[in-house]
Amino acid sequence: MTKAKHIHSSADARRLARRRLPWMVFDYIDGAAGSETGAVRNRAALDAATLRPRILRNVADRSLATTLFGVPAERPFGIAPMGMCNLSGQGADLMLARLAARYQVPHGVSTVASTPLEKIIDVAQGHAWFQIYFSGDGTGTFKLVDRARDAGYQTLIVTVDVPEVGRRPRELRHGFKMPFRIGPRQFIDFALHPQWSLSALFGGKPQMANFDMPGYEFDRTESRARADWDTLARMRDMWPGKLVVKGVLDVEDAQMLKAKGVDAIQVSSHGARQLESAPAPFEVLPKIRQAVGQDFPLFFDSGLRSGEDALKTLASGADFVFFGRILQFAIAAGGEAGLNRLWEVLSDEMSIAMAQTGMQKLP
Ligand code: FNR
Repeated sequence: MTKAKHIHSSADARRLARRRLPWMVFDYIDGAAGSETGAVRNRAALDAATLRPRILRNVADRSLATTLFGVPAERPFGIAPMGMCNLSGQGADLMLARLAARYQVPHGVSTVASTPLEKIIDVAQGHAWFQIYFSGDGTGTFKLVDRARDAGYQTLIVTVDVPEVGRRPRELRHGFKMPFRIGPRQFIDFALHPQWSLSALFGGKPQMANFDMPGYEFDRTESRARADWDTLARMRDMWPGKLVVKGVLDVEDAQMLKAKGVDAIQVSSHGARQLESAPAPFEVLPKIRQAVGQDFPLFFDSGLRSGEDALKTLASGADFVFFGRILQFAIAAGGEAGLNRLWEVLSDEMSIAMAQTGMQKLP
């Protein structure tokens, strides 16, 4: 797709996506909680952080490779779990899965993915981690965890920062719902974005694809507030593989999680989509690193927009980081070629920043 060659940064991908996506879809992906100051706070923290330029260190050979739970990965960044990715483009989930397979990095598969979890792990050649939301009384939740295990998932991400779905006014204004309904307002929006709408018409309306199990209907707006430390203990008992807890922004919580035997913590504000007044995840990261010790696996997502952002985050204590919405923007902008192009851009940005800071290997 020709648009891909116009992507030189994640901002380019976002700008192109904004033109092509219906407003409802763009604002669902791009929006944040409240008046979006949480996103601004994290951006300011990332922008204020600097890397130390070093000179004359022969950095001709540089590697972006790392290991994750002892397994080699070709990049220190992966794909954050995001619901309904196929809204950004037909087949988006599987484009992300192919990317994960190629670079041997994890593809976070959302509870509300728009492709069945079995299909994604197959296409990702095993490089997929299943993300679970606890919801309602948990009956369906635990069934879905069993299903993910049966499908061969070895890593479970428990997302804990959505006791209630955050209020995101941009999403609410468009009447965004899953599955989405097409009223007059949405009709106009879709009519003005025919390229997206026609492909949705012919390729099928994106749906939540993991709820075809008897007795389990997922309601995105249903309260998830009943999850507590006992829920986590039950997850720990039933999950034989690696357990990652995502959405942690407090030092005390991090220490408790470590004591409860989780395998990794993901510092995240859900891309500023939940608590507007949360501290900037980038500022919390070094404090959590200090609290859990050097050897405890610590991951990070939220607000990363470049390879240089990712490098700063690794230098601040993360072992591995995840990109979120910018990957969907790249797909919306240029399909699979757009996604692959942005991935190369992110890799280049990181590699060049490593050269300029005298690094041959990642921190
Ligand atoms: C998300 N995120 C998310 N997280 C999760 O655990 N389960 C989910 O289903 C979703 N769904 C979702 C949809 C969309 C459209 C977005 C943008 C995000 C949060 C995601 O995993 C990650 O925390 C953020 O996207 C990271 O921030 P950036 O990189 O998007 O700024």
